[in-house]
Amino acid sequence: MHADCEKIIFTEEQLKARTTEIAVEVDKLYAGKRPLVVGILKGSIIFYADFIRHLTVPVELDFMVVSSYGSGTVSSGKLNIKKDLDRDVKGRDVIIVEDIIDSGFTLANLKSLLLERGAASVLIVTLLNKEERREYDIKPDYNCFDIGDEFVIGYGLDYDEQYRSLPYIAVLKKSVYGG
Ligand code: PRP
Repeated sequence: MHADCEKIIFTEEQLKARTTEIAVEVDKLYAGKRPLVVGILKGSIIFYADFIRHLTVPVELDFMVVSSYGSGTVSSGKLNIKKDLDRDVKGRDVIIVEDIIDSGFTLANLKSLLLERGAASVLIVTLLNKEERREYDIKPDYNCFDIGDEFVIGYGLDYDEQYRSLPYIAVLKKSVYGG
């Protein structure tokens, strides 16, 4: 375990097993379809890569970069899109792949936006869900794990752009971020 970690909460094996389980379930929903799988960078990158390789239906891949305003500080407003989709979502079945839902600001706004643009359907798949932090009315359709209000890193998740490449998910030591 990395010296900055307090404890590992999901091992590489647990992440692999749960991601596969979720992907197999989602795959069944899209029989005969060609969904557009949208990864929200950067945090979702490892989960996204593991998730899509268990889909058997034909998929197209696309990515967005959106800014998080920090939960609790924004009660309204528009999503800040730093990198938009390359593909047109009109009439498409979209699967959004996220690493974590916190306040829900990002996904609530993103789902509305894609539906406004004419997506036929929008399914939300998330690796982690911090239900107790929710401020916006949004629920994942598929969630790998519920977690409490802890600062977690690894498997794509960062603190100040560090630790994304750790193969497990761990709680960061409070001493590292001065919490
Ligand atoms: C994180 C995460 C979600 C968002 C969740 O992204 O990936 O997109 O915050 O928070 P919310 O539910 O309160 O909107 P972040 O801005 O940390 O970027 P990153 O994915 O590049 O780490």
